[in-house]
Amino acid sequence: MKSELPKEKRLQPGPAGNVVMATVVGDDGKPNIITLGMYMPISINPPLVCIGVAPRRYSHSLLEENGEFVINTPSIDLEEQMHYCSIKSGRDVDKWAETGLTPIPSLKVKPPRIDECFSHLECRVVQAHTCGDHTLFVGEVLATTVDEGVMKGESLDVLVARPIVQKNHVYFTVSEK
Ligand SMILES: Cc1cc2nc3c(=O)[nH]c(=O)nc-3n(C[C@H](O)[C@H](O)[C@H](O)COP(=O)(O)O)c2cc1C
Repeated sequence: MKSELPKEKRLQPGPAGNVVMATVVGDDGKPNIITLGMYMPISINPPLVCIGVAPRRYSHSLLEENGEFVINTPSIDLEEQMHYCSIKSGRDVDKWAETGLTPIPSLKVKPPRIDECFSHLECRVVQAHTCGDHTLFVGEVLATTVDEGVMKGESLDVLVARPIVQKNHVYFTVSEK
């Protein structure tokens, strides 16, 4: 038997996804961090990724001002900091000061990278679409940097990197099958 879920629950049994921490910066030059579950690569050549950000987020206004973002991927060791960046707004707090995360300059864009994350995709917004209650920002990846220790040849060794996967605010990481 299969049961049909009500409208407000229709996304809930979808696949669990990777959690990322995007960095953004606005006209005042103060960078912010936002935790995102809505992240997806969408083109290989050119390299494009997309993120979904609700218009009411402080980060949404910074994206509109500057048009750049960095996708930083945290390991499960950063669960606490990642969670903080998902419950507090940069309108009210300095998430860098509160989490102790370290901003390091990016190679190609204004928002900084988060040093403690293991990979960083530096993106420039090339398209923005309103999709229901979120804006889909498509970003061209201008540079990618990664901690050497998490690479196996040219691929990410996910068992070493231990990215955060989440479903309904329950956090876990990957293991061998
Ligand atoms: C696991 C998780 C995933 C989230 N994913 C998104 C997302 O994809 N898009 C979004 O707009 N907000 C998402 N949020 C909520 C934002 O991270 C949260 O509202 C944050 O405080 C916004 O920060 P800001 O106001 O500084 O931009 C998510 C929250 C959690 C806990």
